[in-house]
Amino acid sequence: MSRTRSTDAHHDTHAHGVHPSTAVLTRGFDPRLSVGSARPAVFRSSTYVFSSPEAAERAFAIALGKVEAKPGEDVDLIYARLNHPNAEILESQIVPLEPGATGAVIFNSGMAAISTLLLAFCGPGGAIVHTTPLYGGTTHLLHQVLLPLGMRAVAVPAGDTAAMTAAIRDTPDLRVVFVETPANPTLVMSDIRAAVDAAATAVTLHAGAPRPVVVVDNTFLGPIFQHPLSLGADLTVYSATKYLAGFSDMLGGVVLTSTPEQLATLRGYRAMLGNILQPDECWLLDGRLPTVALRMNRQSKTAARLAEALAAHPAVERMHYPSLFTDPEQIRIRDAQTSYPGAVITLELRGGKPAAFEFLRRVRIARNAVSLGGVESLTCHPATTTHSEMSPEELEAAGVTPGMVRLSIGVEDRRDLLADFQQALDATQR
Ligand SMILES: Cc1ncc(COP(=O)(O)O)c(C=O)c1O
Repeated sequence: MSRTRSTDAHHDTHAHGVHPSTAVLTRGFDPRLSVGSARPAVFRSSTYVFSSPEAAERAFAIALGKVEAKPGEDVDLIYARLNHPNAEILESQIVPLEPGATGAVIFNSGMAAISTLLLAFCGPGGAIVHTTPLYGGTTHLLHQVLLPLGMRAVAVPAGDTAAMTAAIRDTPDLRVVFVETPANPTLVMSDIRAAVDAAATAVTLHAGAPRPVVVVDNTFLGPIFQHPLSLGADLTVYSATKYLAGFSDMLGGVVLTSTPEQLATLRGYRAMLGNILQPDECWLLDGRLPTVALRMNRQSKTAARLAEALAAHPAVERMHYPSLFTDPEQIRIRDAQTSYPGAVITLELRGGKPAAFEFLRRVRIARNAVSLGGVESLTCHPATTTHSEMSPEELEAAGVTPGMVRLSIGVEDRRDLLADFQQALDATQR
């Protein structure tokens, strides 16, 4: 192992037997390899000096998948597009936050993570079954890039377990089941375990075909309130831009899995596509990991109390928030796979788009911006912004209405947020 690298998880005495909040601060980084620095240093080098020509040959053979590294082997670093110390440290430290994961692959945005995994695990001729709505960028990727490349996409309404199960069972050449739960922006939940069970039976129906991988976009509730790998999913994917980074000041994406072959595949695609997260950004994100549970717990608690209070306002036609679900199937899914409701609240206002726009104009504390998960509260109108690439028919089918606004709740004082949202709701009724 080169002098500056993080310790390998297998050799890290802290890696096993401690809880996630301890592991995130103690594994994956050995101060002795960073001249005694108590926190990781930044290694900005684009290229790495080989310890010998033989070591270089060996490092390339391993990187190209010709041979496998021996457990604990000290493999030289090559070039920062393939891997670098800050990516290694971050990937090691993020693993304990995702129960069931043994490895992570870090990308320079959530979309980089999603596009890389769909290219890696689907491919031309393959099919993707996905819930709808999806984050607008993911829908755009499917329509603008993956379908023209010869992949097929089958959309099933979020929360419709029977339709999802049937699509997984009946879609030929199914390679990927992509579940975004809760869905952005409707917060409708889909049953992860049902997707996993259906994907397992898909094997027997299409003899000889590889089992489809089940991917969960866990951006809204993970890694603290929902654990897809524990429910049998193969991969979780995040926009790390959101709760993981937590301050709306950087982009990032991550995929986590327990399967070494899938990690190797993703790393190989990442090296070719060149979308690894840069060292400075890895360092920044790494420093945010120890507080993600603290932030998410506080944000969720505030959001739950705001949602309860705002649901009764006469300007609110419909409230979408997990702790206020009334549909028995949604309640069943929520109780089976999530622990807390999270910090995104979606409101449907009486008066449609004009009322929604008036609300956005009137809110003073939360800013009108896309994105979510930061310590500052944000508001947006999904139908005309994040989800505007969907056709009117797709928006209607997915339940994204003109009167819908999405609130991302931060860590401001709850009383201030409540008073502000209430005065903005009052204004829509004048
Ligand atoms: C659920 C979800 N997935 C993926 C993404 C894309 O992430 P990024 O903006 O980091 O590329 C977003 C962004 O809003 C999102 O909300």
